[in-house]
Amino acid sequence: MSAKIIDGKAFAATVREKVAGHVSRLKEVHGITPGLAVVLVGEDPASEVYVRNKGKQTLEAGMNSYEHKLPEDTPEADLLALVETLNDDPAVHGILVQLPLPKHIDEEKVINAIAPAKDVDGFHILNVGLLGTGQKAMVPCTPLGCLMMLRDHHGSLSGLNAVVVGRSNIVGKPMAQLLLRDSCTVTIAHSRTKDLAEVCRRADILVAAVGRPEMIPGDWVKPGATVIDVGINRIPAPEKGEGKTRLVGDVEFESAKDVAGAITPVPGGVGPMTIACLLANTVTACCRENNLPEPEGLTA
Ligand code: GUN
Repeated sequence: MSAKIIDGKAFAATVREKVAGHVSRLKEVHGITPGLAVVLVGEDPASEVYVRNKGKQTLEAGMNSYEHKLPEDTPEADLLALVETLNDDPAVHGILVQLPLPKHIDEEKVINAIAPAKDVDGFHILNVGLLGTGQKAMVPCTPLGCLMMLRDHHGSLSGLNAVVVGRSNIVGKPMAQLLLRDSCTVTIAHSRTKDLAEVCRRADILVAAVGRPEMIPGDWVKPGATVIDVGINRIPAPEKGEGKTRLVGDVEFESAKDVAGAITPVPGGVGPMTIACLLANTVTACCRENNLPEPEGLTA
């Protein structure tokens, strides 16, 4: 049987609609417009595309967008000074410093200089600790998007075996914490895991976030499992013409879709959810800053 394809593009559109609804209430009832500041250092083309999309979608949701583009050779002290200015700016409710940063800048230092309440990436060490101890945190956008899709598909996740393949600070670790908070039995696997295939086959929920093209074949998937593919890998596609490429996930979609109960495609699965959740986090940060109730349906 073929799996249900989880349509991340459509799901992200519903999240953005909810965000826009909360934003218009914040404006009309409270006279507050949420604001998101995005900082880009250097001219990495992929980062420029991300930042442009973030700015566009922020404005479409009715929020204010503040873009700060700094040259590649910006001294660390200047970037830290900008972060400090944004921390103190009451019109800015969320701050995102686009990663990766140039090599001469200490990423951890910059991330931990962001006011935790404005850290819409959820990367600040305080937010990592709050999430790990089950307290109210800002939650990283990609795992938040995955959680929203899983809750939508399953209702309750309680008691399910979840395997997260990948142990990054941005996806793997926070994803595992969120699944644990929803009462899954969680395994974090990675490139050194012994019998990775066997570990994956135990998963009712399999989250792949390793960044290796099509590493997980269909026969590693438990029949009926839900597969969330976070990978976005560009590989050569000679069948499309010389020099052409295509996007694939960390899961071999063609074989996995015949085994899984539900699966996210690449592209059009997890990807669109990340920016939608960034907008959601900005609204959440704005509500918390103004002692208003948590925006329904947008938090972990
Ligand atoms: N670069 C690629 N993805 C991300 C992200 O989610 N947040 C930040 N800050 N930088 C990124």
